[in-house]
Amino acid sequence: MFKRVSSVVLGAGFGLVVALPPANAQDAIEAKAQPCAACHGAKGVPTDAKTIPVIWGQEQSYLMKQLRDFRNGERNSAIMSPIAKDLAEGDLRKIAAYFAAKTWPAKSASAKPPSPPKSIAQCQACHQPNLQGGMPAPRLAGLSYEYLAASMRAFAAKERTNNLDMPQFMHMLTERERNAIARYLSAL
Ligand code: HEC
Ligand code: HEC
Repeated sequence: MFKRVSSVVLGAGFGLVVALPPANAQDAIEAKAQPCAACHGAKGVPTDAKTIPVIWGQEQSYLMKQLRDFRNGERNSAIMSPIAKDLAEGDLRKIAAYFAAKTWPAKSASAKPPSPPKSIAQCQACHQPNLQGGMPAPRLAGLSYEYLAASMRAFAAKERTNNLDMPQFMHMLTERERNAIARYLSAL
């Protein structure tokens, strides 16, 4: 009798696990991504683009690596480090995939971009000819002037060292050259 009851209970429990559709897993990631919208924007436009980068439509492997780097201290941010540490390791890839699958926010109509600075050619080898990124290099086109200038300066000053090449590249440019590149990229 007891045996029968317990196997019924077990059977019911097993059925429940199997019945959980993948849609729930997607809902769960969506719920975990919800707090990100407070800063990165409900429609992908950051609430303060000068300090907060666009993550909608950004390169997936790059997003994943940044979350990992914020967690393990290879990239430091007073804001992002604690947020990334609160995420479960097993969710990082799913969260990165979730944001990478979104569409980069459309640009509001603006003036024609300035002509490309000549030092931009070397960036295109990794960040792609259209500067919209490709594994593993992130999209640069359309990030704000302030965010780009600050991250390029952080690499040059070796404050951001979570990549071996970027600090060297940025160190070889003058601040003036970096800012001209940032100006150009932000207008794309
Ligand atoms: C309180 C505001 C805030 C919240 C909430 C927030 N972020 Fe951020 N995020 C930032 C800021 C500011 C930066 C830039 C950090 C820096 O460069 O020092 C950033 C940077 C990032 C980057 C690096 C992007 C790049 O281009 O280098 C990723 C990835 C990221 N955030 C993902 C997330 C995810 C995922 C969540 C939600 C789990 C989240 N953020 C929640 C403010 C926030
Ligand atoms: C050898 C390949 C390579 C070249 C060449 C290169 N980059 Fe990068 N860049 C990368 C990679 C990879 C990353 C991601 C680093 C990380 O993991 O944080 C990156 C990151 C960046 C970031 C940070 C973006 C963000 O969202 O925080 C900026 C800005 C940047 N590069 C600008 C440039 C510019 C400007 C040039 C040309 C002068 C350039 N890069 C040349 C590979 C390259």
